[in-house]
Amino acid sequence: MSTDEQARLMRANQANWDARTPVHLASRFYGLDGDPDPDRWFAAFEWDDLGELAGRDVLHLQCHLGTETLAFARRGARAVGLDFSEASVTAANGIAAKAGLDVDYVQANVYDAVEGLGQRQFDVVYTGKGALCYLPDLPRWADVIAQLLRPGGLLYIVEFHPLLNSLGPKPHPGEGPELLLRHDYLGGGGPVHRDATFTYTDGPAVADATDSYEWMHGIDEVINALTRTGLNIRRLRESDELPWPRWPRMERTPTGWWRLPEPRIPLLYGLLASR
Ligand SMILES: C[S@@+](CC[C@H](N)C(=O)[O-])C[C@H]1O[C@@H](n2cnc3c(N)ncnc32)[C@H](O)[C@@H]1O
Repeated sequence: MSTDEQARLMRANQANWDARTPVHLASRFYGLDGDPDPDRWFAAFEWDDLGELAGRDVLHLQCHLGTETLAFARRGARAVGLDFSEASVTAANGIAAKAGLDVDYVQANVYDAVEGLGQRQFDVVYTGKGALCYLPDLPRWADVIAQLLRPGGLLYIVEFHPLLNSLGPKPHPGEGPELLLRHDYLGGGGPVHRDATFTYTDGPAVADATDSYEWMHGIDEVINALTRTGLNIRRLRESDELPWPRWPRMERTPTGWWRLPEPRIPLLYGLLASR
């Protein structure tokens, strides 16, 4: 696919995220009517891998409402969030101000992040939980990450596992709650087009810009994009827990997150790399 065509599909995604943002802001899913609880979006292993963040420059790519970005600011990091959705950045600014936290939010496409952030470099770049699937070209993305990191800086991706994305319910209602392998596990295909009036949170239908495009990326594709650009892979984690119940048959765990009944399979992965 040409870069012009990629840009066209990403513009459609941008409009789609702008249209969904008011629904997300008012949703129970994000829980922003009271005090936001950013820690609920993080697994304990993420903090072990990230280490001390106080005084460090932390960039959260594709930050949406900044619900996770706030957690970095609360830990004393100089936190920056970047997202191409203007509605998200406006909302994220309001949420951080209300929480009394100092976060800089920048509106830019990830592929333009180096210019959008004025060539600034970071100790940590964090991204994930529904981010990489909106990126058509991982080698180009990895080159951007390498430019955003200081020497020795860390990239941490915490992303939905390709196995989760390949699961789906049985095709006909009443056939039982078990999930089937229904979608490609491996990436490398073209974009998956969705035309959906309802978003993943609770809330009303979205009227405009209902088209969106996603790209599936296998873990091999992610790792190879990072090593090709010269980053070192430091750690890979696979976890059977998700921060919210993606499927009705998921069960709450002692951590407050959710897992599928046995057999245990990975639903989330964490990948730590360094420059
Ligand atoms: C599901 S959110 C991920 C953030 C967070 N984990 C969450 O669940 O709120 C995906 C975000 O990626 C942003 N996004 C998608 N493609 C992008 C791109 N090419 N450049 C910058 N932001 C992008 C969207 O605007 C959206 O806010």
